[in-house]
Order: sequence, then structure tokens, then C-alpha cells
Amino acid sequence: MVKTSVTLSGLTLDNPVIPASGTFGYGYEFAELYDINILGSFSFKGTTQQPRFGNPTPRIAECTGGLINSVGLQNPGIEKVIAEELPRMAKCFHKPVIANISGFSVEEYVHNCALIDTQPQVGIIEVNVSCPNVHHGGMAFGTDPACAAEVTRAVKAVCKKPVYIKLSPNVTDIVSIAKACEEAGADGISLINTLMGMRIDLKTKRPVVANKMGGFSGSAIFPVALRMVYQVYEAVKIPIMGIGGVSSADDVIEMMLAGATAVQVGAANLVEPFACKKIIEDLPRAMEQYGIQSLSDIIGGAHQ
Ligand code: SIN
Repeated sequence: MVKTSVTLSGLTLDNPVIPASGTFGYGYEFAELYDINILGSFSFKGTTQQPRFGNPTPRIAECTGGLINSVGLQNPGIEKVIAEELPRMAKCFHKPVIANISGFSVEEYVHNCALIDTQPQVGIIEVNVSCPNVHHGGMAFGTDPACAAEVTRAVKAVCKKPVYIKLSPNVTDIVSIAKACEEAGADGISLINTLMGMRIDLKTKRPVVANKMGGFSGSAIFPVALRMVYQVYEAVKIPIMGIGGVSSADDVIEMMLAGATAVQVGAANLVEPFACKKIIEDLPRAMEQYGIQSLSDIIGGAHQ
């Protein structure tokens, strides 16, 4: 009998498979399809202080091996998330969730994190300094080590729960940013968010997405994400949640060998709503195939 459980900042997960923020809503639509309590956890939609309608449409462009999104952090705002979404979520998901928190200023990150930190359902706070779809805030905080450290320090000062910083791949040196977050007190790093991309419609000769550019995700970005997880694992001691193009049990194992303690599945949920269920069901078979008894033993195994 293989062992799929992993421990993330003191939180033991039955398995490392976690739907990524923005690809799983608050879980209820998926709960109509299968029992989502088989998941390790899930990260809910990025939450800002104010409700947001998001960017103008069209917001999605199809690409080979993935898709571009420019959603623009559509969400009902932190107060409504706490008053309405968390209680509704508690009816279908009975494990600690990951709260993905966004902001447009350090003060907003602090405000939102302090509020979400009081919620018993929340196991980990994932601070999103990497959204590429808003014109200020978001990625602006995650592309500079000093800014990322400032947000980390400020948020850590008001949170008792573990704080993971979700980083952008749209940088020249991911390692320096991850290290700055670790030095500022981050409990872990989530990486990567989407890669900036665009498509042009050949008939209209205009960008497909109304915001012109968006974040590219899907299986095509897996090697980029894997490379960044590998590099960051060599530089920091805190745990990493590996994200980017994961769509199979083999991908989960590969991401863990690179250094991830847990693995988030994003775009695959949009293509195949049963993606996470299938990955979780496939994991024991894949582990046996590669002679793995316990998943936690292989974290960073490719570095030895
Ligand atoms: C979005 O809502 O635009 C996507 C969120 C993100 O990429 O962080």
C-alpha cells in the first residue's frame, strides 16, 4: 500500500493534489460532479477587498497546449466571501482550504489577510502577488524582490496561519524573489502563476482578448514551471507548492522530484472537470510503476 500523504506547514494532506485558484471557484460546481473531499485541499478564487466584476470580455483565448485568461480578479470581495462563500463551501468541503488573497496596495493585502486569518476553515493563506491581468497591484508586487518582501513582512505581522507567496514567472530571476519572501518570513512559496501571452484574430486583425494580453496556462507551461520549482528548491528551505501545466499523476511526481511538497492543478480543471479526481486515482498506480512507496520521500529527489 503506497502512501500519498504530504505535510505542508504542519497541515497533513491525504494527497498533494490541490486545484489552483481561479480554476475551481469555491468548489460547489465540482462537488455536484464528485466528492471533492478526496482532494488534498483547494485554493479558492483570488479575493480582493472590494467586489470586482473583472475585465471586459472576451477574456479567454484558446492556444496550443493551453489557454490565455484575462479574468481580472472577478470576485465578490472579502466580506461576502467570509459571510457567504465560506459557509456554503463548508457544506461540501470538510478539510482546511487555501485562501488566495490579492490586493492593490500593501494595506489591502494586510486588511484581507487579517480578516481571512480569523476563519477556522482556512488552513493556509496564499498571497497572490502575481496576477498579470490588473494594471496596478497584482503582479507589480511580485516582480521586484523588495516589493514582494514588503508585502510578505506586512502580511506575516497580522497572520497566525501559514502564509505562502504566489510568485509570477514573468521575471528574470525567480530565485531572488523567492529568497526575499523567505527572508521576510514567508512560510512557503507557490509557483508559478501564468505566463504573459497574447493571440491575434486573423480575421479582425485585433487581439482576441479585450485586455489585449493575458496569462497563459496549460500543459505547454509545465517545463517552465518545473524549471522554476527546481531552481527555487535549491535556494530556499521553506516548502513549495508547484503549479503550472500539471495534468497527470506523472506530472505530480515530476513536480515533487523537482522540489514541490504539494502540487496545484489549474487549467486542466477547465478542460476536464474530473482532472483532479483522475490524477488522485492514478497516483497509486503511477507510484507503483516508478517504485515509490511514499510521496513525501521523493520531494526534491531529482537534486540528489
Ligand atoms: C485573474 O483573475 O485575472 C487571474 C488571477 C491570477 O492570474 O492571479
